[in-house]
Amino acid sequence: MIKGEKIRFDIHNILFLIYKFNNTLENTSIKKIVDKHKKEDVSFIFNVTLNSMRLHLHSLKILKIYIKKKLRDHEKILLISAITQIVFLNFKEYAVINCSVEISKKLKLYPALINASLKAIAKNKKKLKDIKINYQDLPEWFRKSTTSLTTNEKKQFVENFYKEPDVHIVFKNKEKLNKFEEDIVRTSSTSGFLINKKEIESKKSFLKGDWWVQDFSSFFPINNIIFKNQNLKFLDACAAPGGKAFQLLSKNLEVTLNDKSKRRIQVLKSNLNRLKFNPTILNRDFINFDKNEKFDFIIIDAPCSAIGTIRKNPEIFFKNKMPDFDGLNSLQQNMLENAAHLLNVGGNILYMTCSFIKNETFDQINKFLRNNNNFLIDNFTLTEESHKFSKLVKNNLMITIPDKILNNNIDGYFAANLKKIK
Ligand SMILES: C[S@@+](CC[C@H](N)C(=O)[O-])C[C@H]1O[C@@H](n2cnc3c(N)ncnc32)[C@H](O)[C@@H]1O
Repeated sequence: MIKGEKIRFDIHNILFLIYKFNNTLENTSIKKIVDKHKKEDVSFIFNVTLNSMRLHLHSLKILKIYIKKKLRDHEKILLISAITQIVFLNFKEYAVINCSVEISKKLKLYPALINASLKAIAKNKKKLKDIKINYQDLPEWFRKSTTSLTTNEKKQFVENFYKEPDVHIVFKNKEKLNKFEEDIVRTSSTSGFLINKKEIESKKSFLKGDWWVQDFSSFFPINNIIFKNQNLKFLDACAAPGGKAFQLLSKNLEVTLNDKSKRRIQVLKSNLNRLKFNPTILNRDFINFDKNEKFDFIIIDAPCSAIGTIRKNPEIFFKNKMPDFDGLNSLQQNMLENAAHLLNVGGNILYMTCSFIKNETFDQINKFLRNNNNFLIDNFTLTEESHKFSKLVKNNLMITIPDKILNNNIDGYFAANLKKIK
């Protein structure tokens, strides 16, 4: 097999594992495939794989124009990846078509169908690049769970969800940002969008532990809460890989970091090491947390569908299976209830999800407040530099649908700051 064909065959296998078996790019079976390749080939693999997933609804719409018969899973995935390369990434069609035909022979598909359809698509690639999808083209589970969005919000999502993410970074303090070696689009005195997104993790100041990568939306809530004093006892119940905890640790606050996942705790520890933070770390299921311990501020960055991060995690729409909303919703509510017991009177729970879907956000807060009349919604106190982003907070709740600020993409996110009054 020639090199281009071998790499593309591995891309096909990765996409197939995600589509059919709900793998993520972090699964060991996928890591094993990727690790066989050289560094420059790995970035090619990620480029094609991620964009094939991001743009698969566009590619399927193109396929419908050219192929009327029902496609088998392998055919569909091979064609989605080839269309992404030819139409959207503008690769040389000759190499893509040849490799796809050879792969189709090995997978015992119809090479003639692959060849003819890709040649016809390549001929019209300039026009096809502008193909538009609309809300009705999105997965049924998503449409059903977002009926409460306004027409404008739906439009905003359709226009944004398939775009490449931008990279937002957060510095330990103002001085570190002021000394940063590169240009940056500032979002606050300690944060901004990287202009040069290449080789992020080999930048000198990153290795020195001056900053971490954290989406603007997920940075915004903690950056806009005033903590009354330095002696509060914080618990980050779902802390890994660490962004929110780093925000607190960089303010010298006393935070206990917990996460249920052993694998993610390892990532958290390596991040803490680089950033030179040394907090208490626990590896417990938050649902079984020791009820005798009390805290003044509990952060629940809850497990969720992660739909707000679809640009970074495009497998959410690509894979065959919808999120397990029943399981997630009961875990989210149990986490809130548990936090309520662990909290001192006068303390706060900051409930957050990288989702804007009603059942993971507003419904959870409303249910919790119905069952706990000793809690109310506390406000965010926008810093002066945050006033230009005030549209992100409505009725004291922060909500974003994947959006753009300062010409850069930000994730969809939700945050509610709940206060225990008695
Ligand atoms: C959205 S992520 C947290 C992101 C993190 N706060 C940050 O800023 O980087 C959700 C986390 O919840 C953890 N988790 C899931 N179920 C849990 C449970 N029952 N108890 C504690 N942590 C749990 C997952 O392992 C995952 O790391």
